[in-house]
Amino acid sequence: MQEHKAEILKGLKATHKYISSRFFYDENGDQIFQEIMKMPEYYIPEAEGQIIQNQSDKISSALRSKNTALNVVELGAGDGTKTVHFLKTLNEELELTYTPLDISPHILNTNKNHIQSQLPNLKIQPKAGNYFETLEQVARSEGDKLYLFLGTTIGNYELNDAVQFTKWLQNMMLPNDSLIIAFDLKKEPRKIMKAYDDPQGITKRFNLNLLDRLNRELDANFDKNNFRHFPAYNPVNGEMKSYLISDIEQNVTIAGEHIHFKSFEPIYTEISLKYSFDKIRDLVQQSNLKIEDLFTNENHRYTWALMTK
Ligand code: AVJ
Repeated sequence: MQEHKAEILKGLKATHKYISSRFFYDENGDQIFQEIMKMPEYYIPEAEGQIIQNQSDKISSALRSKNTALNVVELGAGDGTKTVHFLKTLNEELELTYTPLDISPHILNTNKNHIQSQLPNLKIQPKAGNYFETLEQVARSEGDKLYLFLGTTIGNYELNDAVQFTKWLQNMMLPNDSLIIAFDLKKEPRKIMKAYDDPQGITKRFNLNLLDRLNRELDANFDKNNFRHFPAYNPVNGEMKSYLISDIEQNVTIAGEHIHFKSFEPIYTEISLKYSFDKIRDLVQQSNLKIEDLFTNENHRYTWALMTK
């Protein structure tokens, strides 16, 4: 966190205060996120599971028509529980290598053990680190690749940043490579709100954990009782945003600097952008990619987009 001090202070000194949601994921945050994944209101794991269950065969055939061997490179792979069934299906038709990328070496170890136990003959080459660095190396290695960016992590980018990100991927891809990105789609606004404002307050803990982390790692003195979790969904542009709102006028010290909060002043902490099919097509076109096919979940409110360049 020390190395991100300047970035954090910049956000807290801005006219509209913000902190990137990247900083949610310390050990505590990882644990709370695991709880979120099990909440009945958080529909995303189920939607992704449906695509993997129902569409893996079709995706596998689509890839088989272009590639005989594939290196599956997963960005932010986590513990691999969501990917293993998909890998099993691909493994039946293609000569497979799996390259999970994640910031946490610990979780990659769990990933490798888990996947290897289910697919003993699969070659697994985990790479720990920031994917902006690890991916550059992998992209240059031999062999056709399938890049996976699942779990609607793309939603954590504002639309413009998502375009920059997919352009960066496009630029690294070779002619026989493919890319799958998972998008959460616009749906009943109340359903979205509940997923980010659950009655048990797990998501609230997730958001407020950021302040604990700043207290611990940047010597700050936030009082969590003076901040409130506030999620807001905009059905026009699909922006599900979360804020921490200062309940009172107050001063907070962080890394030796004083930050002033007016009463009800927000810190913007996260976007989980919900897409329409038009917006997906727009993003794909702007980054010079091509949609090969879309694979949706059972109620068509969550989709994987299979792309080439
Ligand atoms: C991990 C980015 C997919 O935005 O849905 C869950 C994170 N934040 N609840 C999301 C999250 C609040 C999640 N992603």
